[in-house]
Amino acid sequence: KKRVVSGVQPTGSVHLGNYLGAIKNWVLLQDTYDTFFFIVDLHAITLPYDASELSKATRSTAALYLACGIDPSKASVFLQSHVRAHVELMWLLSSVTPLGWLNRMIQFKEKSRMAGDENVGVALLTYPVLMASDILLYQTDLVPVGEDQKQHLELTRELAERVNYLYGGRKWKKLGGRGGMLFKVPEAFIPPTGARVMSLTDGLSKMSKSSPSDQSRINLLDTKDVIANKIKRCKTDSFTGMEFDNPERPECNNLLSIYQLVTGKTKEEVENECQNMNWGTFKAILTDAVVDHLHPIQVRYSEITTDPTYLDHILSEGAKKAADIAEITLSNVYQAMGFLKR
Ligand code: TYM
Repeated sequence: KKRVVSGVQPTGSVHLGNYLGAIKNWVLLQDTYDTFFFIVDLHAITLPYDASELSKATRSTAALYLACGIDPSKASVFLQSHVRAHVELMWLLSSVTPLGWLNRMIQFKEKSRMAGDENVGVALLTYPVLMASDILLYQTDLVPVGEDQKQHLELTRELAERVNYLYGGRKWKKLGGRGGMLFKVPEAFIPPTGARVMSLTDGLSKMSKSSPSDQSRINLLDTKDVIANKIKRCKTDSFTGMEFDNPERPECNNLLSIYQLVTGKTKEEVENECQNMNWGTFKAILTDAVVDHLHPIQVRYSEITTDPTYLDHILSEGAKKAADIAEITLSNVYQAMGFLKR
């Protein structure tokens, strides 16, 4: 079976962008692939954060994975910090990561510009190396993510090739390594629709956890009233009718895409249904569609969170399974890099 790996940061609340860009696709992939879905709690401390909120957000994100349909009998669900190999491999990888590669990362540039040099920990810079480690440890084939992670995935591929070149290949074979390569070079899986869900208040910037305005995003746990209110107040335009792909109407395109994804309709069906609607009519059906789609997720979420021991059990089983695989890769890399066996 081919392997799929992905994760979400437990910062703020999980929103429709995370869901439509990533989690919803994980659910589809778990039937045919060997899947590992982690909560990247170690990534969540790369910007100033509240320690007392981290554990809550971590539990909530894990519970949401399950509520969204991740089935622990098919997928391994675990916390990044529970599998020590992630941090260990990161150190090894960081020795072969050129500083220039990290300095060129768009997310690093954006986030560090916002916070200022004196407030940015070096972990924000080395963040993509940890992400590469998350992926490469599992000899991953496919990484389902939103568009914004494309550059990090490219870096992961380049790092894999670099380590394979420097320490893998023939040299590694001579040391007794099988198959030659230390790492499989993974592919990104970016969905055709939903890879970049935009903000409700500005169709040109992406929906994000870090935006100060909660009006800009729909969180998976928002109540019906909150969702209705956010859609009612979202940015619109003064064109008549609704249409996809008009560059002058980013908000319209975004909301139609959201509607398409939460209803499971095709683009053509949505076009035919909505082209003659005015904003008021469209917002009403969009609200109903989003609320209907999220309702079962919210019901399952409250069931799952009534018994914390259930979640603990899933997470500890998931971590055990993940650690078994991760340790194999890690010890191969140590050995290929010249460390003595433990
Ligand atoms: P994070 O937590 O920012 O986002 C989680 C996932 O949601 C996607 N996403 C979006 N998709 C569509 N529209 C949006 N507006 C939107 N916002 C976020 C992201 O692309 C991502 O797939 N570095 C990663 C987490 C990570 C990871 C990994 C992912 C760490 N290690 C290994 C895959 C494999 C991140 O911060 O995602």
